[in-house]
Amino acid sequence: MEKYICVKDLENAALDLLPKATRDYYKSGATEEQTLAENSTAFRRLRIRPKCLVNVERTDLQTRALGNYVSMPVGISPSAMQRMAHPDGELANVKAAEAHGTIYILSTIATSSIEEVAQAAPKATKWFQLYIYNDREVTKSLVARAEKAGFKALVLTVDTPLFGIRRADIRNQFTLPPHLKLANFDGHLSTKIQSTKGGSGLNNYVSGLFDKSLTWDAIKWLKSITSMPIIVKGILRPDDAVKAIEAGCSGILVSNHGARQLDGVPATIEVLPEIVEAVKKYNTEVYLDGGVTTGTDVYKALALGARMVFVGRPALWGLSVGGQAGVQKMLDIFRTELEYTLQIAGTPSISDITRDMVCHESVYCKL
Ligand code: GLV
Repeated sequence: MEKYICVKDLENAALDLLPKATRDYYKSGATEEQTLAENSTAFRRLRIRPKCLVNVERTDLQTRALGNYVSMPVGISPSAMQRMAHPDGELANVKAAEAHGTIYILSTIATSSIEEVAQAAPKATKWFQLYIYNDREVTKSLVARAEKAGFKALVLTVDTPLFGIRRADIRNQFTLPPHLKLANFDGHLSTKIQSTKGGSGLNNYVSGLFDKSLTWDAIKWLKSITSMPIIVKGILRPDDAVKAIEAGCSGILVSNHGARQLDGVPATIEVLPEIVEAVKKYNTEVYLDGGVTTGTDVYKALALGARMVFVGRPALWGLSVGGQAGVQKMLDIFRTELEYTLQIAGTPSISDITRDMVCHESVYCKL
């Protein structure tokens, strides 16, 4: 693993290794992929303003998210069907999160079940990402199983009445390889994704099964069936963030679904400040995913008000390259880069990273 010194190295190696349909599925964004590029370039438009001569002999990356201890503010975002990347799939990812003392978010459409994941990493803090199916009994059972298995929060995805147009998946007629199944389900719900009559098998699956009629009432319903806190994932507007809190959510995950839903939406780091501002009076935690590939990206998101960030594709790249060891390597890279940033920026602990540590490049354009 020593040869990988940054997340980009893992990505390049993973892209070389993966079969075409899987590679395209993981790396694609929606339509023209403008937002996919912006998710990372928007970070490059921000500048860190370091403080000098601060004692940084001791750095401390620890923090808490929804009361859960994390050894660093970088967790793993949900991504679907991780056994396509490596035979150990979700189990490797959750064990890596456990080894690093951080949070793993399991996707509803995973290739390992809720129970397998819980058993593989009993000490990891696990959150469960939920899609609400038309069949509410199916949804209820997922929620009950996650709660019973010790998952600590529900991460409700709210940006997906259907899946976005990912051109490569249409061209490849993407389906789940026949040796895998959607392990949280039985019968046709676990295999339907394997049969496609053209186009993306995943989009066909989702448009037949996900509830397109969802409104904010869904939060009330979820609260009536679980005592797990609810985080909403996919928020890109301050007014939606406020609606989520008023509906009873405990956290906001600012996300554009890895730029896979609608092209032309803002980069997540661009909308983070206005969302943080809108919810500050509620004291609700805000998290971010999308385009985070370096320790300085993490730092910038924290300075702009994120409690913690999550990474999706970087975990898939690590997983593809080396299973659990590859994901741990990816997390090591973030840890090291974030430690360097804390020290050189003169902010030795997470609580020292205040808003004034980062500004937009336009501040310097007048020069
Ligand atoms: C799954 O959530 C995907 O974006 O493909």
